[in-house]
Amino acid sequence: MSVSMEKIVSFCKRRGFIFQSSEIYGGIRSSYDYGPLGVEMKKNVKDEWWRNTVHMRDDVVGLDAAIIMHPRVWEASGHIGTFNDMLVESRTSGKRYRADHLIEGATDIDAEGLSAEEMTKIIREDERIKDPADGGRDFTEVRPFNLMFETYTGPVKSEENVAYLRPETAQGIFTNFKNVLDTSRVKVPFGIAQIGKSFRNEITPGNFIFRTREFEQMEMEFFVEPGTDEEWHEYWLEERWKWYLSLGINPENLRRYEHPKEKLSHYSKRTVDVEYNFPFAGWSELEGIANRTDYDLKRHTEFSGQRLEYFDQPNNRSYVPYTIEPAGGPDRMMLAFLVDAYTEEEIEGESRTVLKLHPRLAPIKAAVFPLSKKAPVSTVARELYDDLKGDYRIAYDDGGSIGRRYRRQDEAGTPFCVTVDFETMDDKKVTIRDRDTMKQERVPIEAVRERLKSLISG
Ligand code: GAP
Repeated sequence: MSVSMEKIVSFCKRRGFIFQSSEIYGGIRSSYDYGPLGVEMKKNVKDEWWRNTVHMRDDVVGLDAAIIMHPRVWEASGHIGTFNDMLVESRTSGKRYRADHLIEGATDIDAEGLSAEEMTKIIREDERIKDPADGGRDFTEVRPFNLMFETYTGPVKSEENVAYLRPETAQGIFTNFKNVLDTSRVKVPFGIAQIGKSFRNEITPGNFIFRTREFEQMEMEFFVEPGTDEEWHEYWLEERWKWYLSLGINPENLRRYEHPKEKLSHYSKRTVDVEYNFPFAGWSELEGIANRTDYDLKRHTEFSGQRLEYFDQPNNRSYVPYTIEPAGGPDRMMLAFLVDAYTEEEIEGESRTVLKLHPRLAPIKAAVFPLSKKAPVSTVARELYDDLKGDYRIAYDDGGSIGRRYRRQDEAGTPFCVTVDFETMDDKKVTIRDRDTMKQERVPIEAVRERLKSLISG
């Protein structure tokens, strides 16, 4: 079943996953807030990435670098010079567009990588290109627009106090390469992983949380010996693919996209994206897995004067490692997981909306229902809830019929509901109901915790 953007947006609002930012003031474009269920789910996406990328491995360590870095970092990385989108403005509507999007939307021209002059010429000459807002054909010249958010440190707004909000988390890793090497006993090949906010002043943000100006990234720089980089790149392509499948995404909605050689970023030898087939946007990038070569470490060596090398003790030689970088965003991934899980189905003449999320991603892992609000059923249910709640996010719901309580949890994606009924008082057993199959099993109370643990870890 394919779900529309409008449906997902209103579902996310209605169930407290995602809200428009500053809504009481009319909202601000491209900013979103994660509500009670959304914050749990996004945390689960990040935790799963961290568990898989850092905790499950002995060759990757973590880092949490600052968002505001020395401005020279962005000169060295190339962002000050080249992190641009091509901007064009319509004189008739006053609207601004990404020139490549405007051209590609109206023609069959592949505009990626064209210069500002080339794009200006195409827009001037090709009559098919019109302002989507009013059909006008009076455009300004195309000019590069740097996507970094500029700010000032300290009270004086002067040129020497200019700083930037980081447009990627990766540079905090490169600038800490030596610190980590000197303090963590890591040996090449090894990786440094980081999750954190990044900022890009996107000209055309859109598609809900897919492209926003403030977003999170999950990036890992894996340092390898030059010559082994292509093999490691293949390895990480496989690993990252497996991660999505392990979290239950439908493989038919997932594909790899190989960036053509002539369109690679300035630092990349090869980049392959993992793409998801969004029903409202088609195949779109969830993450990019790039071979960044020794570009960044060499540039930071050049700009900082600090040698960023690895000493290979057994072979008694120093070299600058190559870097393989899986770089993704939890916001986009969350949208993909939500769309993939969203299901409307008819069961015995009744319709239900159910979020078939992998239990590890589900915001609430289990809900405890007492069949009656009165003791002793409610007392036993409370005790069970108190026993479970330290392990995961657990819900307690005693409102309305059991059927309605099931529907509420189905929509929230809660994989298991545990009901304490009158029989429980005699046989000391409760019912665990599975969200997807709706099958029920009777389990002794003292075994519920272990049973849920095994069901959730899948
Ligand atoms: N360090 C490499 C790098 O930043 P990128 O492909 O520009 O590569 C990596 O970004 C990931 O960050 C993307 O695959 C996407 O998941 C996320 N991302 C990038 N821009 C984003 C935006 N404007 N909104 C939401 N997520 C974004």
